[in-house]
Amino acid sequence: MTTEHLHIDPAEKRWIQVSILVLVIFAVAVGLTGFVMGFQVPLPEQRVDPALITQEGPFAEPGLRELAPGKYEAYILSQIWSFVPNEIRVPQGATVTFYVTSKDVQHGFHIQGTNVNVQVLPGYVGKMTYRFDKPGTYYFFCTEYCGLGHQAMYGRVIVEP
Ligand code: CUA
Repeated sequence: MTTEHLHIDPAEKRWIQVSILVLVIFAVAVGLTGFVMGFQVPLPEQRVDPALITQEGPFAEPGLRELAPGKYEAYILSQIWSFVPNEIRVPQGATVTFYVTSKDVQHGFHIQGTNVNVQVLPGYVGKMTYRFDKPGTYYFFCTEYCGLGHQAMYGRVIVEP
């Protein structure tokens, strides 16, 4: 059957066109944020054994490491109800790759004012990279309810000018 024989109400046809337009707008928006603005989908970087996390590997000594001038990696261990470490200091303009995991229950890791926002699951390592162009204090906190002390679970990145 061709469209000559198929009756489409003009109002229905308009809504079909609007639906297609909305899909095109979404595809363009996702493309722009992903490829132009650099938004990343947080993917699990690797699997780890939460029972051994404090005994072996980089999370046995969590913290900040300098890889090259201005380039850092930060291993942050989440546990009820704190982040280890809960304070890191970097110079202005530093690019920091965060590796975050949990040794007990599900937590979240969000740095205020940035697009760093990962779900922190025991057994998985979340990875996000961010460049701190502006000096100041960036608070990070747990975004998943993890029990009685959830609201006290926070820390900060201090970006020094
Ligand atoms: Cu950890 Cu909420």
